[in-house]
Amino acid sequence: MKTRKWVMLLAALALGAAACGYSDVSTPTTTTTVATGGDVGGAANGQAVFKTTCSACHGQNAEGVDGLGPDMRNNEFIQSQSNADLILFIVAGRSTTDPANTTGVDMPAKGGNPSLTNEEIADVVDYLRTLQ
Ligand code: HEC
Repeated sequence: MKTRKWVMLLAALALGAAACGYSDVSTPTTTTTVATGGDVGGAANGQAVFKTTCSACHGQNAEGVDGLGPDMRNNEFIQSQSNADLILFIVAGRSTTDPANTTGVDMPAKGGNPSLTNEEIADVVDYLRTLQ
């Protein structure tokens, strides 16, 4: 019993030493999330968000739906906006009472999904950028 305890203690010490060794050689990694930076992970997540929240009106592949939401691909409005402006647009939507409304159909605030976070909306913008 006594011997076994020692073996375990030695094993623990060896593990500790190994752990220290690893932390010496590992370079610190910093993950920086740039909300509007066009990062690839963001676009992938944005596509998933788009499919659940926006596709009913804008199509599964953002191709648009007749009489609902316009085509998001090669879209002049999207191209003319900064990332920040697009985020603000999606947060606010564009109702039929807005003089800028072009279709006579309502674009609901946050695509009608109030639980969307700013991060998710920024990811959607990253996704929209991949379609231009
Ligand atoms: C209920 C339908 C509906 C949903 C859901 C919806 N939209 Fe829209 N969206 C519209 C309509 C309609 C317009 C056009 C408004 C107008 O006439 O100016 C529009 C316009 C836009 C535009 C401007 C493009 C242009 O050419 O005017 C963007 C960008 C956009 N939507 C993004 C989104 C995103 C991102 C989502 C999901 C978060 C979303 N929309 C969800 C209906 C919808």
